[in-house]
Amino acid sequence: MAKLKSKWVCQNCGYETAKYLGKCPDCGQWNTLVEEVFDSSSESLAVKKAVMNDIKPCLINEIEIDNTIRFSTGIEEFDRVLGGGLVQGSIVLIAGDPGIGKSTILLQTGKSICQNGRKALYVSAEESASQVKLRSKRLGVQSDSLYVYSQTNFEAIKRQIDEIKPEVLIIDSIQAVYSETITSSPGSVSQIRECTNILMDIAKNKNITVVVVGHVTKEGNIAGPKVLEHMVDTVIYFEGDRYKSYRMLRCMKNRFGTTNEVGVFNMCDDGLHEISNPSELFLHERTKNVTPGSVVIATNEGTRPLLIEIQALVGTTPYPSPRRVSNGIDYNRLLQILAVLEKRVGLNLSKQDVYVNVIGGLEIDEPAADLGVALAVTTCARDVVVSPDTVIVGEIGLSGEIRAVNNLDKRIKEAEKLGFKKIIIPKSSNLKKEDFKNIQIVEVEKLIDSISACVYKEDSK
Ligand code: TYD
Ligand code: MG
Repeated sequence: MAKLKSKWVCQNCGYETAKYLGKCPDCGQWNTLVEEVFDSSSESLAVKKAVMNDIKPCLINEIEIDNTIRFSTGIEEFDRVLGGGLVQGSIVLIAGDPGIGKSTILLQTGKSICQNGRKALYVSAEESASQVKLRSKRLGVQSDSLYVYSQTNFEAIKRQIDEIKPEVLIIDSIQAVYSETITSSPGSVSQIRECTNILMDIAKNKNITVVVVGHVTKEGNIAGPKVLEHMVDTVIYFEGDRYKSYRMLRCMKNRFGTTNEVGVFNMCDDGLHEISNPSELFLHERTKNVTPGSVVIATNEGTRPLLIEIQALVGTTPYPSPRRVSNGIDYNRLLQILAVLEKRVGLNLSKQDVYVNVIGGLEIDEPAADLGVALAVTTCARDVVVSPDTVIVGEIGLSGEIRAVNNLDKRIKEAEKLGFKKIIIPKSSNLKKEDFKNIQIVEVEKLIDSISACVYKEDSK
């Protein structure tokens, strides 16, 4: 006889308790505990597995490395984000907002994997097979080894995996599938945890590469538990500006490679197209006659430098306290930069509104953008322009000094490649300047020096 019991599970972090609580004691969120009924007579797969796998500890010197086999997804940008391709027997999570293009990129991946002679099973738990077919027509997917299965029942999916024996399994999405062994509804923490457990088992024991789609909540977290992120080998976020056509893949966790890699795509009528030189994309709208307050900075996205434009607008405020608005850079970072400008450069902003915007809807979270932001604000406040062929890199310290940044040579090379004539960088002792022939390198130590170094002399008023 099945013995049904209930427990309360936090839908945010997976915390479990026997009685209802208003606030989760683990993650501190309110109203996230939901009652879930489970069958106490059947142990979960995780428990069974733990009992079965009786592996003994061994010395680190005696462990042999099994070669991880990687294969290409056929999409270069995707491969780079994954650290060189999909690893056999690993489990990858792709998370993103609805409509961002997760199903599209996975169908395209399925297509190119199958072109290389592999067998793939695309489980579409949200769309019918004919909907997938319609999309595949747009994407030009034709394949003899790509199976599409519209199913939400996990037990049925498992049977098909045994039958078809795919090398790559795509689950779109984990929130829509459910296992019969758990009575709670699809998308709940228990369901997600159980299904992911089974998927991990499939990946490791059958050596199948599993790619899982996960939805993102309004706050930008993967819907359901954090546990999902902990369980999988690789977590990739698919981001983009809702109003622009480009999309970015960003790696957050990777057991088989580096993180922070970014892949850039353009969403067109016939699917996602790779963009191998994103700097050109982000700068192509920049006009030749630059206005005060516009600068180009070289930021680092993973191992790749990216040139982007930052704009600032400074104007007298009609309010008792001036407004500071930042789009794409951290608000507190902006306040700090403004404070340094006031104190160390003598720029009076106490009666001025300041707006800073990173063009292209990008989020920059590295301090190397500091100097660019400071110069955008300064040039706008003083109504002068930074010459259009100048790139700016540097972190600002509280005493107004310019601090070193990483990967400086890569940033300079990218600026040189895109035809910029001058780059302003922090003073650096180990930079080989003779490597860069077509770009003038200006090293600055103080914030105040950098202003005179970058301003267009003829245009200054
Ligand atoms: P989709 O992959 O369904 O998103 P997700 O699975 O992340 O929810 O992408 C849907 C959006 O992409 C939809 O708004 C239409 C657009 N799209 C294109 O612009 N071109 C295409 O070729 C395809 C297939 C979709
Ligand atoms: Mg989808």
